[in-house]
Amino acid sequence: MVRTHLSFLLLVFTLSNGAFMADSAIGVNWGTISSHKLPPSIVVGLMKENKIGKVKLFDADPTVLKALMGSGIEVMVGIPNEMLELLSSSPAAADSWVAQNVSRYAVKNGVDIRYVTVGNEPFLTSYQGQFQSYVFPTMLNIQQSLARANLANYVKLVVPCNADAYESSSLPSQGSFRPELTQIMTQIVSFLNTDGSPFMVNIYPFLSLYGNTDFPQDYAFFGGSSHPVMDGPNVYFNAFDGNYDTLVSALNKIGYGQMPIVIGEVGWPSDGVSSANLTAARAFNQGLVNHILSNKGTPLRPGVPPADVYLFSLLDEEQKSVLPGNFERHWGIFSFDGQVKYSLNLGNGVLRNAKDVPYLPWRWCVADPSKDLSTVNNHIKLACSVADCTTLSYGGSCNTIGVKGNISYAFNSYYQLQKQDSKSCDFDGLGMVTFLDPSMGECRFLVGVSDSRGSRIKGGSFREVFMTVLLLLFFRLLG
Ligand SMILES: *[C@@H]1O[C@H](CO)[C@@H](O)[C@H](O)[C@H]1NC(C)=O
Ligand SMILES: *[C@@H]1O[C@H](CO)[C@@H](O)[C@H](O)[C@H]1NC(C)=O
Ligand SMILES: *[C@@H]1O[C@H](CO)[C@@H](O)[C@H](O)[C@H]1NC(C)=O
Repeated sequence: MVRTHLSFLLLVFTLSNGAFMADSAIGVNWGTISSHKLPPSIVVGLMKENKIGKVKLFDADPTVLKALMGSGIEVMVGIPNEMLELLSSSPAAADSWVAQNVSRYAVKNGVDIRYVTVGNEPFLTSYQGQFQSYVFPTMLNIQQSLARANLANYVKLVVPCNADAYESSSLPSQGSFRPELTQIMTQIVSFLNTDGSPFMVNIYPFLSLYGNTDFPQDYAFFGGSSHPVMDGPNVYFNAFDGNYDTLVSALNKIGYGQMPIVIGEVGWPSDGVSSANLTAARAFNQGLVNHILSNKGTPLRPGVPPADVYLFSLLDEEQKSVLPGNFERHWGIFSFDGQVKYSLNLGNGVLRNAKDVPYLPWRWCVADPSKDLSTVNNHIKLACSVADCTTLSYGGSCNTIGVKGNISYAFNSYYQLQKQDSKSCDFDGLGMVTFLDPSMGECRFLVGVSDSRGSRIKGGSFREVFMTVLLLLFFRLLG
């Protein structure tokens, strides 16, 4: 029965959105680890405006899924690693996961859920195998739950793997899965193959460059390299192709050299460290998109580009852990508020800004210039321990704004995090609210957004206050 609905749904999608969805293989990851979350409906509007037809989520947040209803956007929902243990051992839990997070949306004008990701990089070396044994049993359970819900032919399972699942002594042709993963990968890939699902991998040339001072700079990008990698008859001019073909070789070794591959995450951050800047992020992402859309493929798969590519990421997430580095909060092709960071064309024209962003009032918190600021250090530490100050670090966009600038930046970051609560700009009398934008050059002092459209009204920007006064006057006249 549900299938009928879905076919109908599909027909509607094809009619209303088919025009731009058909050949666009570029999707985005939409993460929500942010304290300045745009309302989901604005984010969906941003994707539609920019003809982004595929989105990968890390969980199954109902507010996000509700906003995606009727959008025609193809959606991948995620099972977090923390749920794998339960879902691997309990078919009932798998049933309710599917019921609550998939079936519920498979209705007319619902959400076009196409994939469920089983864990997120569950084989990451740093997890030391803690999720390893849960992945395959979870796939079996979720698959059966999808079958019981009549969705198994439409909704496919994938396992997003970090590129550290495979390795090579030197050349792409030598690629193989990590020895301790060979057996489980064979099981998983055989399952995916039978089910018609792709292999999903996350590839990050940025991290190769960041973590390795010997890494040839130009090899990370797509503009050709003065250090190409020669692999028998094959020549590699960029790290992405080299990494991709290492995976192709690893799949080949376990007997699945023809598996379709989807890139679950790939991208370049734009702030926080020197190698993460606007120029580099634009060069990498545009180079990648052009490379994919050219259908060139790689030396081991000429003419066959990845089935789909999900950029990491749609928006900056300023509450992400900075353990990997200060760049971690700056992966977005848009800033946290949906504004274009640099000119980028995903194949449908250059990106455009989000519309109707519900900003808080246009005001900032800065250090009071008339005060002695010598005792401010503890305030800064506290402010930056909860709010984001990563643009101040060496190589960041706000690194050269001076001591006072630093203090103001930290104050403002905290003030906006607290939704401009007036007490949050006190700092023992050292802070003050200003209506003049303190941004300097590339360094942007943010104004937060409210996470629901409705609460915009109480903010009271000048225009809103003005309108309210007008309305009040109007009613006074009427009464
Ligand atoms: C639905 O998915 C979310 C996130 O993946 C999870 O927190 C929630 O518990 C799931 N629902 C059920 C019934 O498992
Ligand atoms: C931007 O990043 C690129 C690549 O990581 C680097 O080569 C370049 O020097 C950086 N630019 C600046 C101004 O730091
Ligand atoms: C501003 O703060 C950053 C990060 O703590 C630091 O690297 C930089 O040197 C500071 N600038 C000044 C002028 O103190």
